[in-house]
Amino acid sequence: MNPRLDALHPYPFEKLRALLAEAGAPPQGLAPINLSIGEPKHAAPARVGEALCANLQGLSVYPATKGEPALRQAIAQWLSQRYSIPAPDADREVLPVLGSREALFAFTQAVIDPAADALVICPNPFYQIYEGAALLAGATPYFVNADPARDFGCDWAAVPQEVWKRARLVFVCSPGNPAGNVMSLQDWRVLFELSDQHGFVIASDECYSEIYFDDAPLGSLQAARRLGRDDYRNVVAFSSLSKRSNVPGMRSGFVAGDASLINRFLLYRTYHGSAMSPVIAAASVAAWEDETHVAENRRAYRAKFDAVLPILQRVMNVRQPQAAFYLWAPTPGSDTAFARDLYGRTGVTVLPGSFLARSAHGVNPGAGRVRIALVAPLAQCVEAAERIAHFIKTSV
Ligand SMILES: Cc1ncc(COP(=O)(O)O)c(C=O)c1O
Repeated sequence: MNPRLDALHPYPFEKLRALLAEAGAPPQGLAPINLSIGEPKHAAPARVGEALCANLQGLSVYPATKGEPALRQAIAQWLSQRYSIPAPDADREVLPVLGSREALFAFTQAVIDPAADALVICPNPFYQIYEGAALLAGATPYFVNADPARDFGCDWAAVPQEVWKRARLVFVCSPGNPAGNVMSLQDWRVLFELSDQHGFVIASDECYSEIYFDDAPLGSLQAARRLGRDDYRNVVAFSSLSKRSNVPGMRSGFVAGDASLINRFLLYRTYHGSAMSPVIAAASVAAWEDETHVAENRRAYRAKFDAVLPILQRVMNVRQPQAAFYLWAPTPGSDTAFARDLYGRTGVTVLPGSFLARSAHGVNPGAGRVRIALVAPLAQCVEAAERIAHFIKTSV
């Protein structure tokens, strides 16, 4: 077998299962509430289901790797409206993918030359696919720790020149998982200049872009345009319907940006074999063409943050993120002991921050925090917040 498989870390949820097993069963009579996994639970839009049913004839054809022209067009239009940019070329600058996860992984395999002793730059904490993709591609991950002084964003300018020289790919997650931080235009300016200097590719993971509270987050293609990079050179945005439209099971997303990178990625995908069924493509068009359900989705998340934050703020210093549906909450002591004992005493599951990060530069930047995903229905989120507040009050 490929020896690189041995380098892969257990997934955070595997670690969580082992941790919770130590806690034993929660008290009888307290229904478990799971706020650990970022799986949207709001209803999928009816129009998506209708489009699926109306297009079942698509099951009888082999899909093209390049995707349905109508979907590429719908995505280009959506990008144009959402980011106030000219519509990207639907033929050359847009490619449907089966959710951002597989695309982030596959793109890394297409970009990295395994013989090049390459570094792949990852934020820390981070979405674990970045690291696994880098390791399986034969690269070495280099972690840039989240900086609490920058709302948990990365200070790109502080990364040493020797690192940039070996960097071939940089993962950006904006809005960020777990902290909901958004890259500013100045952050993009710095990163683009470094990319021009050293030639690395930027993979911008934007799957939380539509879950926000006030201002719509800046996207990588929008930032590129504002900075006069009309060809999107060396940047590719990854997005998805999973969070925006509550359809994580549909596996539908896109990549968009630098046409030459997308062209090579398409070649890779022809062999990789991830082509989207025309049935899913038709449903995806229905989702990208409608903003009403997305606004409703944002309202539902906002109601949860508004209800939960005042309860938690009685016992912890936690605040609303810029975007996404997570709270990145400090724990009184160790994050793992907190998550374990919280579950054992209250039945509420949260994810220890240290499971989402690696020790780098002498510290695990996820330690001392937990990620709380406000995905459950409002009443359950409120009930969980009350249990967390009571747990902290009675155990510290
Ligand atoms: C940061 C981040 N990127 C990508 C994904 C993958 O999402 P999908 O493959 O459903 O688009 C997730 C899923 O939770 C995520 O948190």
